[in-house]
Amino acid sequence: MTEAAGILASPTPQAWVVAAVAHWPELLVDHANCEKKAASSALALMFAYPEDAALAAALSRLAREELRHFEQVARAMQGAGVAYARQRPGRYAQGLRAALRTGDPQRKLDLLLSGALIEARSAERFALLAPRLPAPLARLYADLARSEARHYELYVGFAAGAAPGEWEARLRQLAQVEADLVTTPEDVLRFHSGVPRS
Ligand SMILES: [Fe+2]
Ligand SMILES: [Fe+2]
Repeated sequence: MTEAAGILASPTPQAWVVAAVAHWPELLVDHANCEKKAASSALALMFAYPEDAALAAALSRLAREELRHFEQVARAMQGAGVAYARQRPGRYAQGLRAALRTGDPQRKLDLLLSGALIEARSAERFALLAPRLPAPLARLYADLARSEARHYELYVGFAAGAAPGEWEARLRQLAQVEADLVTTPEDVLRFHSGVPRS
């Protein structure tokens, strides 16, 4: 178990790990997209809640860190001779998004909690993959597991501050949605996908 597993409702199934190790070059392309998306989601939150200066300061740093991760993944792709290819996204981000409430202050809490869950799942999967991947990637993934675990704690901290009486119960609900997305069968293999169908 990784430290991030604390907020996740279910661990990643072994079948995903096996498929991810077998198809790591393809997964690396999606991973690069995930880092861009993580930076972009942080910026979107800054735009949505500009009055929250503490959140803006934390997310600005986080977004820069995610872009550095993107650069690290891009270098790893280059080193491994993996070319960029367009991939259709898996269902994960959209599936989580569909569970978020639309009106504030509930939406802010849900966005922070879904951010925490995405980061926690990333940390869990990086830690699972690190010891199973070839050397340069193994080191990168071990580093990323630690970074994303810090990010999940940051999001949880802001969620707890935003809704002290509500966040834990809501986290459990959203964690169940997240867990279903990563443990049920899915047609495509992505960094946050479910169990590969074939
Ligand atoms: Fe990252
Ligand atoms: Fe992150």
